Amino acid sequence: MNKPRAIKIFDTTLRDGEQSPGASMNLNEKLKVAQLLAEMGVDVIEAGFPIASPGDFESVKQIAKTIQGATICGLARCNDKDIDAAWEAVKYASSSRIHVFLATSAIHREFKLRMTPDEILKRTVEGVRRASGYCDDIEFSPEDACRTEYDFLCRVVEAAIDAGATTINIPDTVGYATPSEIYDRFEMLRNRVPNMDKAILSTHCHDDLGLAVANSLSAVAAGAGQIECTINGIGERAGNAALEEVVMAMKTRADFYDCTTSIDSRKLVPASRLVSKTTGMQVQRNKAIVGRNAFAHEAGIHQDGILKERSTYEIMLPEEVGFCKTDLVLGKHSGRAALADRAKTLGFTLTGEQLQDVFAQFKLLADKKKEIYDGDIIALVQHQISGNVEEKWILVDYVVKSGKSHSPSVELTLRHGEQEFSEVVQQGDGPIDAAFWAVEKIVGIEVVCKDFRVRSATLGRDAIGEVNLEVEHEGRSYRGVGVSTDSVESTILAMLNAINRIIAEKATRGAAE
Ligand code: KIV
Ligand code: ZN
Repeated sequence: MNKPRAIKIFDTTLRDGEQSPGASMNLNEKLKVAQLLAEMGVDVIEAGFPIASPGDFESVKQIAKTIQGATICGLARCNDKDIDAAWEAVKYASSSRIHVFLATSAIHREFKLRMTPDEILKRTVEGVRRASGYCDDIEFSPEDACRTEYDFLCRVVEAAIDAGATTINIPDTVGYATPSEIYDRFEMLRNRVPNMDKAILSTHCHDDLGLAVANSLSAVAAGAGQIECTINGIGERAGNAALEEVVMAMKTRADFYDCTTSIDSRKLVPASRLVSKTTGMQVQRNKAIVGRNAFAHEAGIHQDGILKERSTYEIMLPEEVGFCKTDLVLGKHSGRAALADRAKTLGFTLTGEQLQDVFAQFKLLADKKKEIYDGDIIALVQHQISGNVEEKWILVDYVVKSGKSHSPSVELTLRHGEQEFSEVVQQGDGPIDAAFWAVEKIVGIEVVCKDFRVRSATLGRDAIGEVNLEVEHEGRSYRGVGVSTDSVESTILAMLNAINRIIAEKATRGAAE
């Protein structure tokens, strides 16, 4: 019997994923995501686009320096400056890859690049040669490959492999292809490109028509050896193929695909939560594999079937993707070790410092709330993780007064360094709006609120309320998260988190200029 084919998982959450509006992450956040991706067994982490900005360069470099166990890749357009920058950033990794791309479709050639097919061919060869002068692992992507004429695509792919490309990635850049078209294109490349056996074929599908996962699996069926994907499917426009979905499809239907991956599927839910928390992009409840309802059986007939025999209505086990079996309750008397253990079961390995911080929050919460559930712990841990920004402004105290026939007022005290600042504000449509005004008044930074969401972390009236904010300041958007059993406090904390991000980002930009 033949061994199942090993499919490489190339994760581009930190590059294509981060390109989705509002999903930008800071250096610490990127390092945390990269660490979890490596622990999960991702083969290649596309850490960013180094030429794009000094911040991107620095994060790719730091990821290359610190993350072990995965190949670290940097993206480059097909020109010397981009390729040199990509190498300068990824060269610190124990295994590095440069990913060079150049558009090949007629639409892109004529309207975007204004280059002839021969010029594209020449540029491809020059770029790939330059990159392969730096390292052995070179990926080339003919951008918009799925709308490129077969003949020209074959010529470009053959030339790129001759010039040193070891992976050929075929992107469906605009998410236009159908599964059978993808199958035909991959099969055609394998049959017609004479040196195709010298490189791995890779697929990179966008989800504009909701076909990214189906298309990626079709490419695998036609011989692709690498899938490019992102956690939760985040990415440009409608996003990319979701990592958790392609991985579980190949695992659950190994009988059909006859493929394996090196992914530890129990890390899928923790990775999904981490990315959702750090980007502020919530996962829809009915999202396959990692959504809250993915394993929830509501219909009586289904519940009855599940109780009699799980496989009647369940094709995967929730534990297999990282959902916990029990919702163990912790309380006031639970110790640090119990908390660390529970966090670990939920997929978070905390450092000593992180545990100290989360434990302090846990104790405060236990004073307010008798029983602490998994959802509460996840909210506390993720808040600690997403709070990854220096706390220049800290909440000291607040008093809110509001009523149906009274204008709201907030008395707010914040600390900055050693000094405390207080303001009383009688303004706004309600206590939350008044709290916004008070924060702005004290810190002297004006923002426009673009999105405001409150979510309860668990069931019950005393559940933690998590506020997720998106604010705009000087044309840029920033996220903020705050958790507390009091929603006004969550709002103030979320607002301060966003303000601290603005300050940190301005400082980084100032340092880079
Ligand atoms: O979608 C795309 O074409 C890309 C390339 C840079 C690979 O993201
Ligand atoms: Zn893409």
